[in-house]
Amino acid sequence: MRILVTGATGTLGGALLPALVKAGHQVRALSRAKRESRGNVEWVWGDLISDAGVEDAVRGMDAVAHLATSGRKGRGAVDVPGTRMLIAAARAAGVPHLLFTSLVGADRVRTGYPGYKREAESLVAGSGLGWTVLRATPFHQWLDRRLSEVAALPVLPVDRSVPWQPVHTGEVAARAADLLAGGPAGAVEFGGPQVLGTDDLVETWLRAKDLRRPRLPVRFPGRQYAAQRAGLLLTDATPKGRITWHDYLLPPAPAPSDDFATEHTASPTSPANQPEQDPDLRVYGGDEGYERPTRS
Ligand SMILES: NC(=O)c1ccc[n+]([C@@H]2O[C@H](COP(=O)([O-])OP(=O)(O)OC[C@H]3O[C@@H](n4cnc5c(N)ncnc54)[C@H](OP(=O)(O)O)[C@@H]3O)[C@@H](O)[C@H]2O)c1
Repeated sequence: MRILVTGATGTLGGALLPALVKAGHQVRALSRAKRESRGNVEWVWGDLISDAGVEDAVRGMDAVAHLATSGRKGRGAVDVPGTRMLIAAARAAGVPHLLFTSLVGADRVRTGYPGYKREAESLVAGSGLGWTVLRATPFHQWLDRRLSEVAALPVLPVDRSVPWQPVHTGEVAARAADLLAGGPAGAVEFGGPQVLGTDDLVETWLRAKDLRRPRLPVRFPGRQYAAQRAGLLLTDATPKGRITWHDYLLPPAPAPSDDFATEHTASPTSPANQPEQDPDLRVYGGDEGYERPTRS
């Protein structure tokens, strides 16, 4: 299949591109930065706010994976008007399937970032295109970055009443790749394997980073945290991810083999002789033929 990926340089895009290439698809990747095309990835320049390059980007595609976002501080600029423009271009080009990535709870929370995702979801569902909305829980990498920011403070504010269900982007990407191959599926939720209290989340993170911080019990304000506290951002949907927060931060050591001879005489490419890899690569077994671009 020929698949356009918006948001290809983002956290999820960086995991989806190798998954699609590995599955044998031809990938067109959209970015606001100019990049060199390599192998099965063609990079095209485009901007979902000004609409520049979008019409050309969707032409000839069998599916569009729309991951691009202006983020929590972006006031929905890419998520809502950008999605509207992308839908218009995809309709004009006769693209059969649009997959949009959203948040678990976007259908239940009306404010803030989830509110923009909700608005975009209804544009996608009413687009007349074949559609899939893949709602995911917060990514390990995103929580890791947020905790790193908060850890700059001398004390860590912790709201014990807020639950989290972190998920690995490699597994979200694998789910997205399956859904793209399977065709329009409507709304689908995908969450991490465990629900953790903020205390557990923070405790594991501090241990993994070998940091010590006093914790300050607080109650996070606002309607979004109230929704999270009420469990509205969690999902029971199956399948769910298998890589836990603990595994992401402290990957388990490879199991020792009790067959020394087999381990040491097997060919250098045998799985027994491969080093433990990055969790993204563990999910896919490698991203041969694809080199993730760096942000410019
Ligand atoms: N992060 C999470 O924990 C989480 C959880 C659940 C669902 N999601 C959803 O998953 C998707 C991907 O999230 P992410 O965390 O991977 O995103 P991210 O790392 O913040 O990346 C954002 C991407 O959007 C692109 N972008 C921003 N403005 C653009 C514009 N004007 N025109 C075109 N592209 C633009 C950026 O590309 P360039 O800078 O190269 O142009 C970048 O690749 C989003 O839909 C998000 O809502 C995220």
